[in-house]
Amino acid sequence: MNDDGYAVLAEGLQKRYGEKRALDGFDLTVRAGTVHGLLGPNGAGKTTAVRILSTLIRLDGGRATVAGLDVARQAREVRARIGLTGQYAAVDEVLTGRQNLEMFGRLFHLGGRRAKARAAELLEQFDLTDAADKGVGDYSGGMRRRLDLAASMILTPAVLFLDEPTTGLDPRSRGDVWDSVRALVAGGTTVLLTTQYLEEADRLASRITVIDRGRSIADDTPDGLKNRVGGDRVEVVVTERSDIPRVVKVVARVSDGEPEADETELRVHAPVTDRVGALTDVARTLQDEGVRVEDIGLRRPSLDDVFLRLTGHRTEKEAAA
Ligand SMILES: Nc1ncnc2c1ncn2[C@@H]1O[C@H](COP(=O)(O)OP(=O)(O)OP(=O)(O)O)[C@@H](O)[C@H]1O
Ligand SMILES: [Mg+2]
Repeated sequence: MNDDGYAVLAEGLQKRYGEKRALDGFDLTVRAGTVHGLLGPNGAGKTTAVRILSTLIRLDGGRATVAGLDVARQAREVRARIGLTGQYAAVDEVLTGRQNLEMFGRLFHLGGRRAKARAAELLEQFDLTDAADKGVGDYSGGMRRRLDLAASMILTPAVLFLDEPTTGLDPRSRGDVWDSVRALVAGGTTVLLTTQYLEEADRLASRITVIDRGRSIADDTPDGLKNRVGGDRVEVVVTERSDIPRVVKVVARVSDGEPEADETELRVHAPVTDRVGALTDVARTLQDEGVRVEDIGLRRPSLDDVFLRLTGHRTEKEAAA
C-alpha cells in the first residue's frame, strides 16, 4: 500500500490502439480495504484500465501504482499481489470445480497438498462444496462466476480486479456474486470492480469513478452520484395525451422536484424520496380522477441517467436505440 493509503493510484494514464485513444488521461484512486466501482458504458476504457493496472498490457503515458508498486517498473512484484477475473470466465469446462481450483493452485506453485487444501477452503467459502465434483459444464452462470472468483483468490491477493463480474447473470446469481465480493473485502482484500450497472456499483462500492471515452468524469460516493442525478423517480405513462397536464399536477404534489413531461412518449416523471408512499398516492389519485394509466412505477437512476447529467449526452448504446 502507499503511504497515502491508496491501494490503487493512477495518474494521467494514456493508452492508444492505432488512432484510437482507449485511455486519454485516466485518473483513479482506490482506498485500501474498500470496493471501488469503475462505472462506464461499452468501450469507455474499463477493461483497458484494468489490463494496465494488472500489468497485462503496457501504458503509453502517465503512471500507476498497485499496492504501492509501480506497474511499469515492478510488474512482477505487482503480479504477486493481485488477482484478476476477466470479463469472460477462464475456468475449464471439462474439469470439475475442484479440479479447476487445484490446477490453478499448482499453476501458482502451491504444491499438490497445499493446492488441494486451498481448493477445499475456497469451495467452502464460495458455497460450491456440493457442486465441487461436478463438471463445470453443468454449472449455472452464477456458479461459474463464483468459481472464477475463487480461482482469482488462490493466493489471497491484496488487490482484486473484477471486470464486469455479473454481466449476463440473472438477478439471483448476481446477488450470490455480490455476497462473495462482500466476503472478500471483509477478509481485507481491496476490490476494483468495473460495471455498466449503477445499481451494482451502488450496492457494493464505497466510491465510484465514472469513465467516459478514456477519462474519469466523476469520482464520488454512490449517494453523491445519485443525488447529482436526482435520485429515484416516479413515472406514469398515460394513454391519452390530454391527460398529461392533470398527471403533472398529481405527481407534483408528491414530488420534491419539478415533474418532467415527455409528450411523445406520453410519460410524466418526477423525483421522489418517499418512494412507496408517492407511488401509492399517485396511483390512487389518478384512479379516483379516472385517468387511464398505461403504466406506473418507480425508476432508480441508471447509468444512462448519470451520463446524461454528467456529460449532456446519452451512452452510445442508448443513443443508437
Ligand atoms: N486490442 C485492441 N485493439 C484495438 N482497439 C481496442 C483494443 N482494446 C480495446 N480497444 C478499443 O479501446 C476502447 C476501450 O475499450 P475497452 O475494452 O477498454 O472498453 P470497456 O469499457 O471495457 O468496454 P466494455 O464495457 O464493452 O467491456 C474501445 O473503443 C475499444 O474498441
Ligand atoms: Mg470491458
